[in-house]
Amino acid sequence: MSIKAEHLTYKYGDGTAFEQYALKDVNFEIPDGQFVGLIGHTGSGKSTLIQHLNGLIKPTSGRILYNGTDIHSEGYSLKKLRSKVGLVFQYPEHQLFEIDVFSDVCFGPKNLGFSDEEIKKRAEEALRLVKLDEKFWKQSPFELSGGQKRRVAIAGVLAMGPEVLILDEPTAGLDPRGRDEILDQIRELHDKKGMTIILVSHSMEDIARYADRLMVMNHGEKVFDGAPKDVFEHYKELEAIGLAAPQVTYITHALKEHGVPIGDHITTVEEARDAILKLLNQ
Ligand SMILES: Nc1ncnc2c1ncn2[C@@H]1O[C@H](COP(=O)(O)OP(=O)(O)OP(=O)(O)O)[C@@H](O)[C@H]1O
Ligand SMILES: [Mg+2]
Repeated sequence: MSIKAEHLTYKYGDGTAFEQYALKDVNFEIPDGQFVGLIGHTGSGKSTLIQHLNGLIKPTSGRILYNGTDIHSEGYSLKKLRSKVGLVFQYPEHQLFEIDVFSDVCFGPKNLGFSDEEIKKRAEEALRLVKLDEKFWKQSPFELSGGQKRRVAIAGVLAMGPEVLILDEPTAGLDPRGRDEILDQIRELHDKKGMTIILVSHSMEDIARYADRLMVMNHGEKVFDGAPKDVFEHYKELEAIGLAAPQVTYITHALKEHGVPIGDHITTVEEARDAILKLLNQ
């Protein structure tokens, strides 16, 4: 089971004087349970790409297959797809609108036509999954902190029971603590529920810590796709397209250039700490 993009190409304003390629011949297959980081500078096509994966945007050419079936083939239910492939938009709190948190989270499952009992069960479970304390459930979503609002928005998608969770910069504008909390929760959904995660991020540090796989976009094309550690080896090419490897990669490269026999492939602060301690203890 997987999500697959075949020769995915998309033009905004197709056939007008303003037509512009946002995606060019993008190919990939994401198997069940993978944690994928999607990175690229602004305007590189990340948001356009992920909106194809749940059918919000239809390819100009090429195909999206979910579990082997073209999602735009005749008779395919995009509504059902959207419950299986959940998309959390950038600044999702702008889409909160119900009078209280609980009602907001109920919106998705209600739309899918579940019984009242099932809707309630799903909303409770989703709010517990994102660890939003029960005392907030009857409050207006607008009274919550930025991080809490974000969690309500994620719960709203989780309540639909998705197999794949796609998040467009879920930590944008949060303080470091709010950021870590959200990312740790996403990792838990991946580890404990086996959910496939596609995380759009601007932070190489976050990708290095959380993702199994990193896809890098540049001007609508996929330019790197692999294990984060392998992709970071191309840090010079990443810099050429306005990106960079995690900071700690530069430090370990500099140490090596100065003759310190530190290991290869260090991309997180924890790995650097362990490698340096090992050297000191030798
Ligand atoms: N609604 C639209 N109409 C016309 N062009 C658009 C539209 N949305 C995006 N584009 C263009 O398509 C390209 C890809 O945009 P997209 O929003 O997918 O990039 P992104 O990687 O998500 O950027 P960011 O990091 O800023 O969120 C850009 O050149 C952008 O200007
Ligand atoms: Mg975007």
